[in-house]
Amino acid sequence: MKLLITGGAGFIGSNFIRYLLENRPDVQLTNLDCLSYAGNLENLGDISGNQRYRFVRGDITSIIDVKESLRSGVDVVVNFAAESHVDRSILDSSSFLRTNVLGTHILLEECRQSKVSRFLQVSTDEVYGSLSGEGLFTEESPLATNSPYAATKAAADLLCRSYHRTFGMDIIVTRCSNNYGPYQFPEKLIPLMILNALKDKPLPVYGDGMQTRDWIHVTDHCSALDRVLMDGIPGQVYNIGSNQERKNLQVVHHILKILGKSNDLVQFVRDRPGHDRRYAIDSSLLQKELGWIPKIDFEKGLTDTVRWYRENYSWLKNIQSGAYREYYKFLYEERNKTLKNL
Ligand code: NAD
Ligand code: TYD
Repeated sequence: MKLLITGGAGFIGSNFIRYLLENRPDVQLTNLDCLSYAGNLENLGDISGNQRYRFVRGDITSIIDVKESLRSGVDVVVNFAAESHVDRSILDSSSFLRTNVLGTHILLEECRQSKVSRFLQVSTDEVYGSLSGEGLFTEESPLATNSPYAATKAAADLLCRSYHRTFGMDIIVTRCSNNYGPYQFPEKLIPLMILNALKDKPLPVYGDGMQTRDWIHVTDHCSALDRVLMDGIPGQVYNIGSNQERKNLQVVHHILKILGKSNDLVQFVRDRPGHDRRYAIDSSLLQKELGWIPKIDFEKGLTDTVRWYRENYSWLKNIQSGAYREYYKFLYEERNKTLKNL
């Protein structure tokens, strides 16, 4: 089976490529990635010489790049390519609209023309918005996005639905909860906190730190995507989650405990505008229909993840060198300015 993976140089995409190469001897993979700030070929250093894998630098918003990567014949497209960080979408959402909406549209249209057999859109539970009390998001929950990032992902989900309904394309959308694990860019909560704690720098916790996320290890997300890819029902939306809700402050304290650092490193900072209070996802459809179960316990997965970042400190250091450092400084200055003006 020939697969085109978009955004495969990012966090989840690179883990998924490794997962498929290890578990599916029959797949040939092309990774189409523009190498944005979040794309890093070091994430795939160990498999770059694999005969069943090739990398193509290209942009999903370019019809030419997409046509070119579909030209040699592709059975299945898995779309990971996205701008993925909520805080960046608050500062400037234009690249989110371009990649997440326009890029998905271009992919769908080119897949329609090339008669690709299956399209898997990797989406997020953030399209459902925030839960105020008890209860879980099901696939039937209304889309109620609160961040520009989430709004662009919801728009892409609806484009997928429309291409299934209108053109009869075999399209599946998955909506997963917060991932953690190796190769995650240190702008997201867990790797950022590990990195800061390792350097004895303050750990910025937004608001009161009582927001809740359902944390899933990236390997469990990959195994779910694999099940959906192989046996999912066309037109279906599948929620993916591991039923391991934790408050942000709990997660941060746990990281500090693993590293033997003091909780005094926690610094409460001004809250994210429009901050979703709670995400929690019901993935029973996927479990019942396709027999998938998440395997990794959060506390064990977090300990392994902290160890991975410690052992791969050079990966972290490379990411933070040169242009990245300047960009990150700029981002934080912009965040403070934007928050002041709100
Ligand atoms: P990431 O930011 O780590 O990686 C995104 C990748 O997409 C990068 O390699 C980047 O270079 C590439 N990319 C960006 N714009 C592109 C373009 N125009 N053309 C080609 N490539 C482009 O993101 P991630 O955390 O790995 O997330 C992957 C997907 O999973 C996203 O669609 C995201 O919405 C979804 N998702 C993420 C999470 C999470 O917790 N991280 C949870 C659920 C769903
Ligand atoms: P994040 O990793 O950005 O994922 P998402 O916004 O998609 O859930 O953030 C996870 C949670 O952690 C979210 O409630 C925001 C919070 N957070 C902080 O408190 N401090 C930080 O520096 C970051 C990046 C996130």
